Amino acid sequence: MSENRTLPNAKKVFIKTYGCQMNVYDSDRMTDALAPHGYEPTQEMGEADLVLLNTCHIREKAAEKVYSELGRIRDFRDERGPDAKKMLIGVAGCVAQAEGEEIMARAPAVDLVFGPQSYHRLPELVARAGTERVVDTEFPEEDKFAHLPAPRREVTISRGLTAFLTVQEGCDKFCSFCVVPYTRGTEVSRPVAQVLAEARALAEGGVKEVTLLGQNVNAYHGRDDAGRPVSLGALCHRLAEIEGIERIRYTTSHPRDMDDELIAAHRDLDKLMPYLHLPVQSGSDAILKAMNRKHTAAHYLELIEKIRAARPDMALSGDFIVGFPGETDADFEATLDMVKAVGYASAFSFKYSTRPGTPGATMDNQIEEHVKAERLEALQVEITVHQQAFNAGCVGLVLPVLIEKPGRNPGQVAGRSPYLQPVHIAADPGLIGQILPVEIVGRAKNSLEGTIVTAERRAV
Ligand code: SAH
Ligand code: SF4
Ligand code: F3S
Repeated sequence: MSENRTLPNAKKVFIKTYGCQMNVYDSDRMTDALAPHGYEPTQEMGEADLVLLNTCHIREKAAEKVYSELGRIRDFRDERGPDAKKMLIGVAGCVAQAEGEEIMARAPAVDLVFGPQSYHRLPELVARAGTERVVDTEFPEEDKFAHLPAPRREVTISRGLTAFLTVQEGCDKFCSFCVVPYTRGTEVSRPVAQVLAEARALAEGGVKEVTLLGQNVNAYHGRDDAGRPVSLGALCHRLAEIEGIERIRYTTSHPRDMDDELIAAHRDLDKLMPYLHLPVQSGSDAILKAMNRKHTAAHYLELIEKIRAARPDMALSGDFIVGFPGETDADFEATLDMVKAVGYASAFSFKYSTRPGTPGATMDNQIEEHVKAERLEALQVEITVHQQAFNAGCVGLVLPVLIEKPGRNPGQVAGRSPYLQPVHIAADPGLIGQILPVEIVGRAKNSLEGTIVTAERRAV
């Protein structure tokens, strides 16, 4: 493979990633797409020939960040003077998809704008951007994933023991607050063979834990070689057979797609981790209806019961939006009740952000900013109570921990519990890569502290 090593006159690409895990995955795939064309990744913008912002459009703040960052990059480029080497500036991701032409108009320094479905064309787009300003926000017919090159084994190894793997992209649900169906397009699942091949390559590169990604990952229905659709539960069974892959996770799921096969997989597969991110957004039926979530609070709670019956130690996580148009105090109380009823191990909460082009943006009864802020604070207090209780309940247990990396202090390592909690352990860095039984002896705000259970102690 030496022909793929550092090329003479190698160029450098600096990528800054915003938003969700899929953007993190995509940024690596962009790096992989550019590698055969002589681009090496760099962490230093100053030495880059190409700067890419992989952007997020989910809330107003996320989108605005892009424009202020573009201003900073332009100033940085201008300060280098006319003799400095040329630095191309590109915008990728969901803001690029949603506001391609607007970016070009608002940020004249930008050379290149391209959406998430164009990443396989990146080398060609960069070449064109050397002579003209380029916008590519098409949804092409061809399979992007079939054209994206795989990373070299050494690159996979350098990326660590855990990896993301996109299995599904896009969304057809059209929740009335959300931009994703517009920025990521219609729901598409990758074929089973493609997913398995990528997972095998990751395992060969030392990856022990894969997190399957999709905006609606549990709606996965990729085809097998015979052309039959395969569910996410069945896909997990296939992935669990791959030697070297010890842990499987997936995110993000929609309650309506949480089918019996997937729930049964949680009962039957030890490798499928007992942690589930299952956003509900609100505890009020009126708000769920206005959000177009197409299920009720009771349906969600029944589902949780079913999941816990299959996997009693399942840790649950969620997303909540406060201040959706029309949300009354009583609706918000119902959200607090939902948090109490489920007892989340962790949860994310956001103030509703009006997104142009979504149905929510033009609804009556938009909620005042200060009300949103008050509700967010109250919700976060409630969520923290449950998160702390969940972590406290882990103290005294022995949990299998994947030892991932050196810890902050010498003589310390850091890993993750099955429930995705960071665990800090005083232990030899030589243990990195192993899954070991760890007794949880303490906890901090967002992490646990543990000691490795030695063979002698285990025998007692
Ligand atoms: N596909 C995932 C969510 C993707 S967006 C799902 O269906 O759950 C991640 C989270 O951002 C959402 O769950 C929601 O809580 C939040 N979010 C999305 N649009 C938002 C908006 N307009 N304002 C505030 N939060 C939003
Ligand atoms: Fe957005 Fe709803 Fe689709 Fe999730 S299911 S990506 S919240 S539209
Ligand atoms: Fe943001 Fe796009 Fe992900 S809008 S959350 S980067 S799918």
